[in-house]
Amino acid sequence: MSELLTGIAELTTNDDELGVVPDAALVIDGGRVAWVGPARLAPDADTRVGLGGRAVLPGWVDSHTHLVFAGDRTAEFAARMAGKPYTAGGIAVTVAATRAASDENLAEGLHRHVAEAVSAGTTYLETKTGYGLTVEDERRCAALAASEVDEVTFLGAHLVPPGCDADAYVDLVCGEMLAAVAPLVRWADVFCETGAFDEDQSRTVLLAARAAGLGLRVHGNQLGPGPGVRLAVDLGAASVDHCTHLAPSDVDALAGSDTVATLLPACDLSTRQPLPDARSLLDAGATVALASNCNPGSSYTSSMAFCVATAVLQMRMTVEEAVRAATWGGARALRRESGPDAVGVLRPDSRADLHVLDAPSVTHLAYRPGIPLTHSVYRRGTRVR
Ligand code: NIG
Repeated sequence: MSELLTGIAELTTNDDELGVVPDAALVIDGGRVAWVGPARLAPDADTRVGLGGRAVLPGWVDSHTHLVFAGDRTAEFAARMAGKPYTAGGIAVTVAATRAASDENLAEGLHRHVAEAVSAGTTYLETKTGYGLTVEDERRCAALAASEVDEVTFLGAHLVPPGCDADAYVDLVCGEMLAAVAPLVRWADVFCETGAFDEDQSRTVLLAARAAGLGLRVHGNQLGPGPGVRLAVDLGAASVDHCTHLAPSDVDALAGSDTVATLLPACDLSTRQPLPDARSLLDAGATVALASNCNPGSSYTSSMAFCVATAVLQMRMTVEEAVRAATWGGARALRRESGPDAVGVLRPDSRADLHVLDAPSVTHLAYRPGIPLTHSVYRRGTRVR
């Protein structure tokens, strides 16, 4: 069954040739986009939906979340708002709660958070392990994630669990833990930061993951300057995420590489860090993605619209740059932006993942910050909201 969506005031395709199409229509067939163009040229389809002058864009591609967790860190957040600094050590609180939780409890929380994201326009989502930190807990978190989200990342190297020797823990992550989790995930990540894993430990983890056939991602330069970006670029990681504290040499390295700089502004606000210098990255030619980093500690929101509005209002990104970073950029960070079933783009053969706004243009995402503008959401051509 094909479906014609018409009455689209502004269609953002993220396709270099199609660009932004005014007065547009789009045909969905078999879960993919079959046709895109001006409404007056639209072909017939089995059914027809009029969108009444709304804007349509690709669904958000959230390439960085940590959604397999239990427990609550409201008190830590409140203390931070009262002046206490954010430290990586808070992760251990969620680790303890996650280990104690049943599979059912973890699955219910994961499902609820994914549903929340989808209802606000997210149609493709990555999530990480990293709150288990034993072989069995990392394995079960990966298995739960694989049953619910599009992309799963192994983050056994999130924190050295309290009471463990760091070198012995790195050996465990690179050995038994990686072997148990690798069949369930596509990516591996490491938190390369003071208080988590240093450069050598991070490299060791990433090389072991690469040898196991996983793609690489890095948490880098979040809480201060450091080696994360350089390491990510050296090892050809698909993305380095946070990028809050960048030296000019980090910007140059990213601009000269295929590694996506994934910026997480909701996290920087929630941890009272400066916002990343998106302008320098974009002006230097780096590829930028925006993601929510939804997790119970440093960024408890799945709202990509909030990230886009923040990027525009406070990070000097244009609306077009921010929307592209939260759709195509996320897809590029996950290496899913091209080929059949591509996400983050709307063109023939891409996945029919659409976000319809209750507004005539994407500009309203920043012009009307905080207003829920999602009208409807399609995943693989099916309306899910
Ligand atoms: O991306 N930086 C490390 N990991 C998460 C924080 C997780 C937490 O505080 O629980 C992040 O911000």
